[in-house]
Formats: sequence, structure tokens, C-alpha cells
Amino acid sequence: MSICGRKNSSSPRICGFLFIFTLFLVSYYWKRSQSWDPLNENVEEGKWPGSFCKGRLANGTITPLQDKHSFIITPYSDKRQENLIRVLSIIHHQNVSNLYCIFCCENSQMIEVVQGEIDVHKDRFGFPYGTTDLLCLQPEDCEAHFISVHPENPNLELTHLPLFPIRNLYPEKPSVNFTICMSTMFGKYDNVLQFVQSMELYRLLGVQRVMIYKNSCSPLMDKVLNYYISQGIVEIIPWPIDSYLNVSTRWHYSMEGKDLGYYGQIAALNDCVYYNMFKSKYVLLIDPDEVILPLKDADWKSLMERLEKEHPGVGIFLFENQVFHRTVFSETPFNFSSWTTVPGFNVFEHIHKEPKDVHSFNNMKMIVDPTKVIQTSVHSVLKMYGGSLEVPSDLAFNFHCRIGKHMNSPNSTLIRDPVFWRYNKTLIPRVNDVLFKSGILGAGDPPQKQKG
Ligand SMILES: *[C@@H]1O[C@H](CO)[C@@H](O)[C@H](O)[C@H]1NC(C)=O
Ligand SMILES: *[C@@H]1O[C@H](CO)[C@@H](O)[C@H](O)[C@H]1NC(C)=O
Ligand SMILES: *[C@@H]1O[C@H](CO)[C@@H](O)[C@H](O)[C@H]1NC(C)=O
Ligand SMILES: *[C@@H]1O[C@H](CO)[C@@H](O)[C@H](O)[C@H]1NC(C)=O
Ligand SMILES: *[C@@H]1O[C@H](CO)[C@@H](O)[C@H](O)[C@H]1NC(C)=O
Ligand SMILES: *[C@@H]1O[C@H](CO)[C@@H](O)[C@H](O)[C@H]1NC(C)=O
Ligand SMILES: *[C@@H]1O[C@H](CO)[C@@H](O)[C@H](O)[C@H]1NC(C)=O
Repeated sequence: MSICGRKNSSSPRICGFLFIFTLFLVSYYWKRSQSWDPLNENVEEGKWPGSFCKGRLANGTITPLQDKHSFIITPYSDKRQENLIRVLSIIHHQNVSNLYCIFCCENSQMIEVVQGEIDVHKDRFGFPYGTTDLLCLQPEDCEAHFISVHPENPNLELTHLPLFPIRNLYPEKPSVNFTICMSTMFGKYDNVLQFVQSMELYRLLGVQRVMIYKNSCSPLMDKVLNYYISQGIVEIIPWPIDSYLNVSTRWHYSMEGKDLGYYGQIAALNDCVYYNMFKSKYVLLIDPDEVILPLKDADWKSLMERLEKEHPGVGIFLFENQVFHRTVFSETPFNFSSWTTVPGFNVFEHIHKEPKDVHSFNNMKMIVDPTKVIQTSVHSVLKMYGGSLEVPSDLAFNFHCRIGKHMNSPNSTLIRDPVFWRYNKTLIPRVNDVLFKSGILGAGDPPQKQKG
């Protein structure tokens, strides 16, 4: 830059202006980077705690603490029973005995330290690490928007501690009725065709938002996600859990060992439920190969109105899982010629389901009122307010199109049930539309279908 360096510069005023302007820009960006927030919710101007509370804003969805055994996800204010901050975390169930909560009390311009209560969720499935609530009782007369967590009682230099904005401080009326929490997309997920079919059916059934905790997916899948993000339906939460822990792709420790089950699915689901506490009236905890299908109602709204009326006080609704085998193909009367190049499964071709097994555990899936949930697992809620209900399977069930659970059972025991076909007229054109609009079909060479 030479304008201001030149001795004979014709305009010292321009120099002065540039200098001040630069200062302004620098301070603006400094402020912005200070208040950068991992979940896209801007920390409001003026809420930054100030110099009395040292630390650096945590800059990811998962923040490791110095003990290397504790990982903080998000602190949520929870005033349902006491005035506490529930810090959703993943910790080693044995090796962490103390965690301290450091409140930045803005009213007194002081920090206050309280020892947190460590509550490891019951469903850990044998893994050494588990979803954990660190319960921090908020000191009286302390108004805090930020909290930090430390393994030792910190009468020490606090500058390097991660600071977290506290969420859910201000209860609001939910702005949407149905949000889907999809946990942990991982393994370069590439099941584009089934994903789009599910998404379009969710939209027909009344979803307004889909939150995906994404670890990894294929480039083609990213195209589809970007399309749905541009439509304002999908919200992605980055989930780089494998940078911190050796995660299993299986749900139980006995299957392949490692630190934490299923890419931290349970932590992601709990985060999603709390994240939506004041955003969504209902939250569905399902995967992209699942759809909760109402059989007597046109959509979820009318299904839930029916259930609310018949079962007042219930906030947890469980739906029977019915597994349709993705390995058994059937002829269909529909024309899918445009889908043949798209990677993934065509749900319409899989109409054979496993018979109901009364002797084995049914992996029910749930629709929950988030304000009634304290701790959730995958197939049940562990701690809750009010009651839960197993919804009769003639009203609705969880349609689950996947690799069979009982692969040894002969095909002849499977039951033919083309229930999905009832959506052919509405769903097929909408799926085509998305495949074109997202750029999967149409422009350029068609993608190569991958086997397996
Ligand atoms: C923020 O991210 C950078 C780079 O990824 C990292 O070096 C830094 O320690 C992070 N800060 C905090 C508070 O986690
Ligand atoms: C946790 O603690 C146990 C017993 O104190 C120890 O044997 C083990 O190595 C520790 N685990 C880790 C991951 O440090
Ligand atoms: C949610 O449902 C209620 C009635 O159950 C309706 O009045 C409201 O408009 C719905 N909100 C949205 C965003 O669809
Ligand atoms: C995963 O385990 C391997 C050895 O089993 C170890 O070297 C590596 O550091 C671990 N990775 C993480 C993120 O813990
Ligand atoms: C079931 O049928 C499919 C073909 O639709 C076949 O590939 C598979 O091997 C059969 N499985 C059993 C257990 O017979
Ligand atoms: C299926 O639809 C395509 C156009 O999308 C058409 O070219 C083809 O002839 C149709 N096939 C059948 C069997 O109707
Ligand atoms: C296709 O959908 C229409 C409308 O829902 C339905 O009447 C028809 O039976 C469906 N076709 C098949 C073969 O199931």
C-alpha cells in the first residue's frame, strides 16, 4: 500500500480516514470473532461477559477439556425444577470425578464457581464414554449468559478456558410444530435416493425442520443437503466426534469395542431435543431410513391431535418398528427410469417386512414433546415429566427400510405389505423435482451408480 507511505501524498485527510476506517474494521472483526458462535445463533451485542470473565469462546460443537476425558457439547438453562444449567457432555464414566462450573455473573461482574453434579446417562451400552449431564446449580443473584467448565477448582489463570454461551435462557413459544432430529450421519453417507424419498415424505407429513448431526457424507449427498439447506428445511450441526474419540459404528461395546457407541448418537439426540426445547412443539427422533407413518391420518398434525385428545398429559409417543428388507426386491407398477443412476435404495421396491416378534425387544422410535424430556435414549426416554404411550400399530408405526434384522429368517416368513405405495402419486414427482433441482439429475453426466 503506497497511498499513505508517500511523502508528497496529496491528501493527508484520506490517510487519516483510511487509518480510522481500518481501525474500525479491525475492531469490528475482532468483536465478531469474539462472539462467534458454534450453532449460528449470534451472541447479541452487549452480552459478551467482558474482561472480568476471561476465556475464549468455544468454537466447535464438541469441546475437549484439559482432562482429556470430558467433552462439552452445550450448556442449556433448565428451570423446570431448579435453576440449573444442564451442561450436555460426553465423559469417561469412571475417570472423571470432578467438574467445576464457572459462572460469569454479569450483574456483579464476578465469577462464581460451583462443583457440578455428574450424571452419566444410564444407556451407555458398555462403552467407557457416555452421554452425561453436568448439573450446575446457578448461584442465587448471578445473572450469567456464559459458563465455563474445568476439571479443577480454578483459582488459576482462566484465560485459556473455553467459554460457552448458555442456551434456552429465554423460554419462547415454539415457532414450528414438527422437527426431525437425525443423529450422526457418518461413513461418507451416500444413500441419496432413500434420503430424498424420506425427506419428501416427511414434508408431505408435515415436517418443518430437519436437524442433521453430520460427521461425513458423499459429495453427491452434500449437493442434496445444500439444496435442502437453501430451502430452509435442513440445518446441519457439524459433528467431528471422531477427531476426539475412537467411535464405534455399532451400538453396543461388545460388537467392536472402542470408546463411544454409534458416533455419539445419544449425545446428538439429547442435544437436538434441548436445542428444540422452545423451538418445536414436537420432535421426531428418527434416522433417514425411517418414517413414522400414520395409517388413519393424512399427516402428523392430525395424528398428534388425535393422540393428544385421547391421552392428555402424555409427552412421549412410541411407535412400533417394522423392518422392511432392503435385500428383498419386488416388481412395482411405477416407472423409475430416471432414478437408475442415483446412488441409494428405492424404497418402493422393498415391500417385504419382518413379522412381529413378540419375544424380542422392539426398537420403537419416538415423537416427543421436548419440554417433557429430561434424558433421552434412542428407543425410549430415560427420564421425563408425565407419561409415555405406546401408540397402537394400527394408528401409526415406524416404517424402517434397512438391511434385515433377522437375516437368517427365510424370505417366505416375510410379509408383503406395499403400504409405501400409497404415496406413489404424490411422492414420485416430488422426488424427481428435488433430484433435478439439486443438480443430481439433468445437468452434465449422470452420476455413476455404486453397488453396495
Ligand atoms: C478454536 O479453533 C482453533 C483452530 O481449530 C483452535 O486452535 C483453538 O484452540 C480453538 N479455540 C477453542 C477455545 O477451542
Ligand atoms: C481410567 O481409569 C482406569 C482406572 O483408574 C485406568 O485403568 C484406565 O486406563 C483409565 N482410562 C483412560 C482412558 O485413561
Ligand atoms: C402448528 O399447529 C397449530 C395447531 O395445531 C397451528 O395453529 C399452527 O399454525 C401450526 N404452526 C405451523 C408453523 O405450522
Ligand atoms: C484411537 O485408538 C488408537 C489406538 O488404538 C490411538 O492410537 C488413537 O490415538 C485413538 N484415537 C483417538 C482419537 O482417541
Ligand atoms: C431373499 O430373496 C432375495 C431376492 O429377492 C435373495 O437375494 C435372498 O438371498 C433371499 N434370502 C433368503 C434368506 O432366502
Ligand atoms: C418411463 O418414463 C420415461 C420418461 O421419464 C420414458 O422415456 C419411458 O418410456 C417410460 N417407460 C415406461 C415403461 O413407461
Ligand atoms: C398410487 O397412489 C394412488 C393414490 O394414493 C392409489 O390410489 C393407488 O392405489 C397407488 N398405486 C398402487 C399400485 O398402489
